[in-house]
Amino acid sequence: MAPSSLTLEGLKSLLFFPPPPPPLYHHHFLLLLLLLLLVLPCCPAASINDSFVFHNFRQSNLILSDSSIITKKGALRLTNDSTPTPNWGYMGHAFYPEALKFKTTPAGTAQSFSTRFVFAIVSKAPQSGGHGLAFVIAPSTNLSNAKGSHYLGLFDGSPIGNSSNHIFAVEFDTVIEPSLQDIDDNHVGVDIDSPISKASSTASYYTDDGKNETVVLDSRTLIQAWIDYDGHINLLNVTIAPLSSHPGKPKRPLISYSVDLSPILHEHMSAGFSASTQSIASEHYVLAWSFMINGQAPELDLSQLAPIPTASTSMWKSRFLPYVFIPIFLLLWIVAGISWEIYRRRKLTHEKIEEWELEYPHRLPYKEVYRATEGFNEKKLLGKGGFGSIYKGVLHRNGLEVAVKRVSHGAEQGMKEFVAEVSTLGRLRHKNLVQLQGWCRRGEELLLIYDLMPNGSLDSYIFGDKRCLSWGERVNILKGIASSLLYLHEEWEQIVVHRDVKASNVLLDAAMNGKLGDFGLARLYDYGTNAKTTHIVGTVGYMAPELSSTYKATTSSDVFSYGALLLEVACGRRPACPGRPGEEVLLVNLVHSLWMEGRILSAVDKRLGLDYIEEEAEVVLKLGLHCSQAAPEARPNMRQVVKFLNGDLALEAMELQDQVMEDDQDFDQLVLQFSSSRIT
Ligand SMILES: *[C@@H]1O[C@H](CO)[C@@H](O)[C@H](O)[C@H]1NC(C)=O
Ligand SMILES: *[C@@H]1O[C@H](CO)[C@@H](O)[C@H](O)[C@H]1NC(C)=O
Ligand SMILES: *[C@@H]1O[C@H](CO)[C@@H](O)[C@H](O)[C@H]1NC(C)=O
Ligand SMILES: *[C@@H]1O[C@H](CO)[C@@H](O)[C@H](O)[C@H]1NC(C)=O
Ligand SMILES: *[C@@H]1O[C@H](CO)[C@@H](O)[C@H](O)[C@H]1NC(C)=O
Ligand SMILES: *[C@@H]1O[C@H](CO)[C@@H](O)[C@H](O)[C@H]1NC(C)=O
Ligand SMILES: *[C@@H]1O[C@H](CO)[C@@H](O)[C@H](O)[C@H]1NC(C)=O
Repeated sequence: MAPSSLTLEGLKSLLFFPPPPPPLYHHHFLLLLLLLLLVLPCCPAASINDSFVFHNFRQSNLILSDSSIITKKGALRLTNDSTPTPNWGYMGHAFYPEALKFKTTPAGTAQSFSTRFVFAIVSKAPQSGGHGLAFVIAPSTNLSNAKGSHYLGLFDGSPIGNSSNHIFAVEFDTVIEPSLQDIDDNHVGVDIDSPISKASSTASYYTDDGKNETVVLDSRTLIQAWIDYDGHINLLNVTIAPLSSHPGKPKRPLISYSVDLSPILHEHMSAGFSASTQSIASEHYVLAWSFMINGQAPELDLSQLAPIPTASTSMWKSRFLPYVFIPIFLLLWIVAGISWEIYRRRKLTHEKIEEWELEYPHRLPYKEVYRATEGFNEKKLLGKGGFGSIYKGVLHRNGLEVAVKRVSHGAEQGMKEFVAEVSTLGRLRHKNLVQLQGWCRRGEELLLIYDLMPNGSLDSYIFGDKRCLSWGERVNILKGIASSLLYLHEEWEQIVVHRDVKASNVLLDAAMNGKLGDFGLARLYDYGTNAKTTHIVGTVGYMAPELSSTYKATTSSDVFSYGALLLEVACGRRPACPGRPGEEVLLVNLVHSLWMEGRILSAVDKRLGLDYIEEEAEVVLKLGLHCSQAAPEARPNMRQVVKFLNGDLALEAMELQDQVMEDDQDFDQLVLQFSSSRIT
C-alpha cells in the first residue's frame, strides 16, 4: 500500500500552516497538537486507506454481492454468462471494503482521484454478449435496488435518473439501448446519476502518432482502463487500451469531460464495479485494480494477473465438446471396442504349439476348432459326457459335421503321451468305431474331433424318452459293437482295450448303426497326475469285479462290460439299480435267477411286447450272463462272442459257472466306492 497521502496532507497542513495562534495561547496550541496526534490513529477518517492496489483478488476482502465471485485463480467475476436470466437479468457488484474519503469536509470540493484496472468481457462468441461493466463510485456498497440489463446494476430503472442517486460511473457498454441514447454497442460512457451517459465514445484509443484504434470490448481481450479526475480544473479523463497491443497508457484520453463532481460525491463514498446481463450475457471480469486519491493510481504489475478461462476452454465447452469431441469419443470408443474384440479373439484362439505336437498326425489348428464350434457356443453344446463337454460343429476345411469333445486334463503333464496315443487311435479304421477326425491341444485342454453321430447315444433310446428300438435294430447294434471290439482286441496291429464300453458310449449313425466311441479315453487318467483317485476308470455296473483288486483293464474286462451292454439292451434296464429289492439290484443276478427258473425270456424288455425273435433273445441274454462271469478266464473272448451272436457257435459249448457273481459283497463295495468317488 502506498503511504496515506491524505493523512499526510492533512497533517502537513495542520503542522505547517496552522492558523496563527494568539501568542498568549501558544501553549494551548501545542496541547491541542499533542491531543490531535494521540487521537488521530483512532479517528475513522484517518484510518481510511485512500490508496490501494490489487494485482489479484484472491486475498482481497472486497464486498461481493449478487452474482459476483472471485475465481480460484483470483479474478473478480461480476457475472456469469448463463441465460436465460430473470426479467432484469443478473447483476454483480464488488466494492472496496472501506469507504474512501473524497472530500476533506462534507461540504468541500471533490478531490482529485485516479484509478486504473484491467478488465475483460467474455461471451460465448465475440460481440454476442451483454450488457456491460462499469466502474462506480456510490454512496453505499448496497446497490440491490438497482436493475440489471442496460441499467448495469447501477440505476433503479428510471431513465432520466435522480440527482439523489449520487452515483458516478464510467460504463463499458456492449449493447445499444436507444431509450438511453446509446451511441453504439461498443462504447465507453460517463454516467452521473443517470443511465443516460453525459459523455460517451466508441471504445477506442489513440496511438502515439494520433490515430484512433477501435477496441472491441466484448472480445475476451484484456483491456486496461484509466479514469483520472482532476479536482482543481474539474476535468475527467477516461482512457482505455488493449493490454496486448498497447500496454502503456495512451497519451491522449478517449474521453476528456469537464465536470465538477463535488455535488455528486459525498465526503465518504464506496468505489467498486458493477456489471449486468439479461437474455444476452457475458462473463465480466476485473483482473487488477489500483486507486489513489490525490495522486496517480499505482502501476499494475501485469505479470501477476489472474488468468480468465481461456478461449480454448470456453470453445471446448460450447462448440468443441458437442460437435467434435463427441464424435471423436465415439470413434475412440468404437476403435477401442474393435481392438478389444480382436485382442480377445486372438487371445481366445491363440495357441502355443510345442514341437512334439507337430510330430503327430491329425492335429487341427485351435482356431479352426474354435471357428467350427462358433467359439464353443453354449447353443452348440450337445451334452456333458464323462470326460468333458461335447459340442457340435462344422469343419470349415471340408464342411464335415463333427462332434468336438473338450477334455480338460487338469495338467499339461502327460499330455504328450496321451496325444501320442490319441493320434495312434486316429489310425483305427472300423465301420463300427466313431472315426476320430483330429485332435488339438491348448494348454491343459484337449480337443478331440469326431464324426458327428446324428442319432445320439444308445442309452437315450434304451433308458431315455426316445422311441423304443425294435429288436432287429438292437441286435444289429449289438453285433456292430461286438465286431468293433473284436477289431480293437484282435484285428488291429496292437491290442486296444476300450475300458469304457457302455450304452452311452455307443453312438448311432443316421442308419441306426451302432458305433463305439470314446475308446482309449480312459487311458487319459493313467497319464494324469490324478494319482489320488483310483486308476480304474469305468462305470458302475459295467466294471469287471477283478478291477477292484488288479486295477488292470484287460480285453476280458471289456468283455464283462460288453456282457452288461447285452443284458441292458435286451432287458431295457440299467445293469445296477441300487433302489430295487435284493436280487433285482444287479441285472445279471436277476436274469440268472430267471434262467434258473426256466423263464429267461421274461427278462426281455417289456416295451417290445412280443415283437422279438425268441431264439435270438435267448442267445443275447445267455451270452450276456456268460460275459458277466466274475472269473475273467471263464468269459468268452470277443471272437467267440461274435460267433455266438452270428449263430456260428452254439452257446451250449460254453459252460456257465454256478455262480455268476462269486462274491456279491465285492461288487457292492465297488458300487459304494464309485458312488463316492465317481469319475464318469
Ligand atoms: C490500510 O493500509 C495499511 C497500511 O498500508 C494496512 O495495514 C491496512 O490493512 C489497510 N487497511 C485496509 C482496510 O485495507
Ligand atoms: C449465474 O449466476 C446466477 C446469479 O448468481 C446464478 O443464479 C446462476 O446459477 C449462475 N449460473 C451458472 C451456470 O453458474
Ligand atoms: C440493501 O438494501 C436493501 C434496501 O435498500 C435492504 O433490503 C437490504 O437488506 C440491503 N442489503 C444489505 C446486504 O445490507
Ligand atoms: C428521487 O429519489 C428520491 C429518494 O429516493 C425520491 O424521494 C424522489 O421522488 C425521486 N425523484 C424523482 C424525480 O424520481
Ligand atoms: C476514430 O476515427 C474515425 C475515423 O477514422 C472516426 O469516425 C471516429 O469517430 C473516431 N473515434 C473516436 C473515438 O474518436
Ligand atoms: C486529461 O487529458 C488532457 C488532454 O486531453 C490532459 O491535458 C490532462 O492532463 C489530462 N488530465 C489528467 C488528470 O490525466
Ligand atoms: C436318425 O437320423 C436320421 C437322419 O438324421 C433320421 O432320419 C432318423 O429319423 C433318426 N432316427 C431316430 C430314431 O431318431
